[in-house]
Amino acid sequence: MSEETFFHLAGVDIEDQRCGGAACFVARHRNPTRWAQADGDQPRVHCLGKCHLAPAVATDAVRPHVGIDAPEAVVLGRIAQGRAWSLEAYRNDGGFSGLERARSMTGEAVVAEVDASGLKGRGGAAFPVGRKWRAAQAQPSPQKYVVVNADEGDPGAYIDRVLLEEDPHAVIEGLAIAALAVGATRAYLYVRKEYPLARERIEAALVQARAAGVLGDALAGVGQHLDVAVVEGEGSYVCGEETALLNAIEGRRPEVRVRPPYPVERGLFGRPTVVNNVETLASIPWILRNGAAAYSAMGTPTSSGTKVVSLNSLFRRPGLYEVEFGLPVRDIVERLGGGLSEGSIAGLLIGGPLTGVLPPSLLDTPFDFESLRAVGCEVGHGGMVAFDENTSILQLMHHVFRFGAYESCGKCAPCREGAGMVEAQLGAALGGVATSDDLEWRDIVDALAATSLCGHGTGMAAFARSVINHYGEELDRCLT
Ligand SMILES: Cc1cc2nc3c(=O)[nH]c(=O)nc-3n(C[C@H](O)[C@H](O)[C@H](O)COP(=O)(O)O)c2cc1C
Ligand code: SF4
Repeated sequence: MSEETFFHLAGVDIEDQRCGGAACFVARHRNPTRWAQADGDQPRVHCLGKCHLAPAVATDAVRPHVGIDAPEAVVLGRIAQGRAWSLEAYRNDGGFSGLERARSMTGEAVVAEVDASGLKGRGGAAFPVGRKWRAAQAQPSPQKYVVVNADEGDPGAYIDRVLLEEDPHAVIEGLAIAALAVGATRAYLYVRKEYPLARERIEAALVQARAAGVLGDALAGVGQHLDVAVVEGEGSYVCGEETALLNAIEGRRPEVRVRPPYPVERGLFGRPTVVNNVETLASIPWILRNGAAAYSAMGTPTSSGTKVVSLNSLFRRPGLYEVEFGLPVRDIVERLGGGLSEGSIAGLLIGGPLTGVLPPSLLDTPFDFESLRAVGCEVGHGGMVAFDENTSILQLMHHVFRFGAYESCGKCAPCREGAGMVEAQLGAALGGVATSDDLEWRDIVDALAATSLCGHGTGMAAFARSVINHYGEELDRCLT
């Protein structure tokens, strides 16, 4: 399919919709009527990015609390000081000086700087950004793309929404630096339909940036063209997966593509493509402005810099916090979040529902890629959804598989068929009924882990295995 012929189907208005995501599920006792409506909605909405207000509806509009707990605020600095979405405010704060520096460097030098910073992707896969850019840069193609992944489907995370709404020029500057570095002349920003204000703000910021000559025919004066188009999602979670997202932009069925080839080799319209997350790109201007060494001086040797975590509504102080990697999770939960406003913490979904669950006994685990992985969890998108005694582990597991089954792209049988079978078996157990499926849910979990084409299926398996590991006794009690 050529770039000229792609099309998009009309979507569904979300104005009246209610959120059925994980943060709203664990807060359902606070507004059972609202939750019951959300749970029955068709199509289901699995996150509105308002987890600090959960259980939330689309019209809820209270701004989250924003806090910084790092030596330097890489991502949240301007947002913490007040609203900074205009070009003028961004410029007054030194905005576009990272791009200015990048203009004076070769593409190779820009990539080397990003590589030296140790920045890893913030969208969930934690792939080193410098390595991805270098691979795209090395491609001989005359046409390359940069795609901004603003799908933020992971229930529990809302940093990308707030960045687009309140600091859109930081994302544009990061995108422009990426395009300069790899030689891309066209970019797409794929933003989910559930974020109408984010779309409005980024579109307004793009108009300003074009008028100011930051984008367009002479990208900030270097003679390289850069055009950016905004594409709106249609409510599918799996469209956040980078290859499904490329299919969605092309107007194809948003299924996950088999890799290799990777997007940096054959991505959008078959051309080399860098796909980066919003928070990843918003970190780039700071790195160019302050240097890789200043960035990698924060965090740990293998998890450098800072990460924004999104705390859900059960915390006493829910909101967005920029933290230095390596901080114990307990510090985030107790010192920053203030613990739960009622009851006690039964566990934490970190980085989305499709990774592990952190039990209270492991709260001293450092918040970094390697330490969390060692206990079966992931940094993921940085969402932190605490749940309390109102949610049993079986209820949580049923909710996660219900979400997983609904959002499957349908390409792999264990995910397409098996996730729904697990949902049904757990649902039957919740209702005290036995099921007679040939396959037991634990076998399906093994199949998901072994054969899934993408992180959606393997994530469901990782979640189930961490429940078995950390909540085995409670699960057995619920199942018998
Ligand atoms: C099921 C699934 C959903 C995903 N959803 C998102 C998303 O909403 N936003 C995002 O940035 N990355 C998402 N990712 C990760 C992307 O595939 C990809 O790794 C990322 O956009 C690359 O950008 P980064 O390297 O800057 O993180 C998802 C991955 C999977 C498997
Ligand atoms: S694991 Fe699920 S979402 Fe991922 S490609 Fe397979 S069917 Fe699609």
